[in-house]
Amino acid sequence: MSQYQSAFERAKTSPADFWMEAAQQVHWDHFPTQALNTDNSPFNRWFEDGEINACFNALDYHVENGRADQQALIYDSPITNSQRTLTYRELRDTVAHFAGAISAEGVGKGDRVIIYMPMIPEAIIAVLACARLGAVHSVVFGGFAANELAVRIDDSKPALIVSASCGIEPNRLVEYKPLLDSAMDIAEHKVPRCIVYQRDALQAPLIEGRDIDWNDALAQAKPVDCVPVKSTDPLYILYTSGTTGQPKGVVRDTGGSVVSLKWSMSNIYGVEPGEVYWAASDIGWVVGHSYIIYGPLFHGCTTVLYEGKPVGTPDAGAFWRVISEHNVSVLFTAPTAFRAIKKVDPDGSLLKQYDLSHFRTLFLAGERCDPDTLEWAQQKLGVDVIDHWWQTETGWSICSNCMGIEKLPVVSGSPSVPVPGYDLEVLDENGQPVSAGTIGALAVKLPLPPGTFINLWGAPERFESAYFSTFKGYYETGDAGYIDENGYVFVMARTDDVINVAGHRLSTGAIEEVLAGHPDVAECAVLGAADDLKGQLPIGLVILNDGVDRSSDDISAELVSRVREHIGPVAAFKSVAVVSKLPKTRSGKMLRATMRSIADASEWQMPATIEDAGALDDVTDALKKLGYASKS
Ligand code: COA
Ligand code: AMP
Repeated sequence: MSQYQSAFERAKTSPADFWMEAAQQVHWDHFPTQALNTDNSPFNRWFEDGEINACFNALDYHVENGRADQQALIYDSPITNSQRTLTYRELRDTVAHFAGAISAEGVGKGDRVIIYMPMIPEAIIAVLACARLGAVHSVVFGGFAANELAVRIDDSKPALIVSASCGIEPNRLVEYKPLLDSAMDIAEHKVPRCIVYQRDALQAPLIEGRDIDWNDALAQAKPVDCVPVKSTDPLYILYTSGTTGQPKGVVRDTGGSVVSLKWSMSNIYGVEPGEVYWAASDIGWVVGHSYIIYGPLFHGCTTVLYEGKPVGTPDAGAFWRVISEHNVSVLFTAPTAFRAIKKVDPDGSLLKQYDLSHFRTLFLAGERCDPDTLEWAQQKLGVDVIDHWWQTETGWSICSNCMGIEKLPVVSGSPSVPVPGYDLEVLDENGQPVSAGTIGALAVKLPLPPGTFINLWGAPERFESAYFSTFKGYYETGDAGYIDENGYVFVMARTDDVINVAGHRLSTGAIEEVLAGHPDVAECAVLGAADDLKGQLPIGLVILNDGVDRSSDDISAELVSRVREHIGPVAAFKSVAVVSKLPKTRSGKMLRATMRSIADASEWQMPATIEDAGALDDVTDALKKLGYASKS
């Protein structure tokens, strides 16, 4: 049996032993006596009687065990042309101090804190300060609009918001304060306090009595120690797109997160403590939580916080510069970043300017990795390129080539094999396992391993109904795919209306809700069409109310800005057309999959149940005008 198979089998047959062993690799204030309690499945509880602190594991442990002067964080910001490093001691001291500042504002164990910040060290400091106190952080991505922030405020009911004066995109300054003020106006839950970090690029006006300058908050504060929490206490809430406009607040526990992320650093990523690990993502996404902040710090690595883009800051050699300048061993990013680089520098000529001799492995995730991109990266970089598959809900990867256990052959188009801890199966619509090579729903047999989500914030019924009700005894991933005869998994498509735009997860249903809110719109559909750079892009098709005689160009422009205002620029919603009919089945179900095939100019068959086949002609014409529905 291969090393991978033996690890996989052990995790499957003796999960308690397997994960108790992993639990010994982290620091506990009280070591758990039991690995897993499944009495109330699917609300499973890992290391239930253990007590732990995530910030201690990320910082204090290393300061006390020989890494005090090692760099913990390298902030590299081509967008502001600046860099800053913090050692483990410096980061621990700053975090302890800021934890004192938020504690003085009344934040304690179990309180929620929203962090709405750009990619600056203060964002990581704020996250770890919450963890230090046992407070529950909820980071909101900077590319979301005020309305999305307001929804998250009302759902998580924070005691405090930590923000900054601005984010910096290549083409503009993103003023956070007006977005924050507007979100706080929209939200019903009134947050008493905001701490605002003023960046050099912009000084934001503060509201007296509510807002405090970051430096003023620190000036009065005293450093505080880590507060041990129960293993099952929430570490954070991270909102992600579901099938409706109401995002899902994924809740992650503390003990499970520390154990699984620490385990993944050596077993999946094959990195050693002391090495430099770089996840080129955003702290607003799960990749940022797990692999910019927690994973590398739990493992005693140096993590890189990169405030820039793969291209244009200043060129398509930016990633190679960062790897070479900071001796990065492992890079994790989304395929879209590599597609962007490949588009600008197809020959990889900029690579020649940099010494990448320290660089060992590239990991890709967040969306399906097209074989072209994978092969280009392999060829140009000459290192292992590993596609791996995971989700906000799981917090770490379901499938990967586990580089620290045993490197298996790379198969293009597949994120390799299930990671130990994930008993993955492909099920048909009756919940029966299918044979090798047959497409079905990808589902994980319960229990899920530690570090996966334990609930949806304030919505336990939705947790059960959205993920555990279709297939009894399984977690439904929402992805469809197949497992081949060698055990390699192929993730093909979502089974719901979630789309993936530049590695960002979006709900077409949420965009539809925004379009439907326009006074002239009677009905609408949003589909994800294939895009060479971003993987998918959302396209809107709308039917106007009878009697509306305004120009459809004007209405389309209003719809585009409406989505930008309600959801945010990250939705990348730029294409919308007016149609007279939308194709539906006789029972009234919108034929989105057929429209998507037409948009992508791929093979499709006339659905037998279609109510009015003429609607497809109308939709095809509209899609052609938007630049879709024809082979390029
Ligand atoms: N704050 C505010 N606005 C943001 C933002 C942020 N943190 N991040 C993105 N935006 C804005 C962009 O400025 C852009 O606005 P625009 O319409 O005014 O141009 C819009 O959101 C879309 O952004 P993005 O999807 O990032 O597209 P882009 O054209 O700016 O860049 C890539 C394209 C491929 C370079 C970029 O998507 C990228 O680096 N992707 C990496 C993927 C990634 O990190 N995924 C996370 C999961 S691993
Ligand atoms: P998110 O929760 O934002 O991380 O998005 C998770 C979704 O992204 C998954 O459910 C998949 O649809 C998709 N995804 C992530 N990684 C991969 C991958 N390696 N291959 C295919 N799809 C992926």
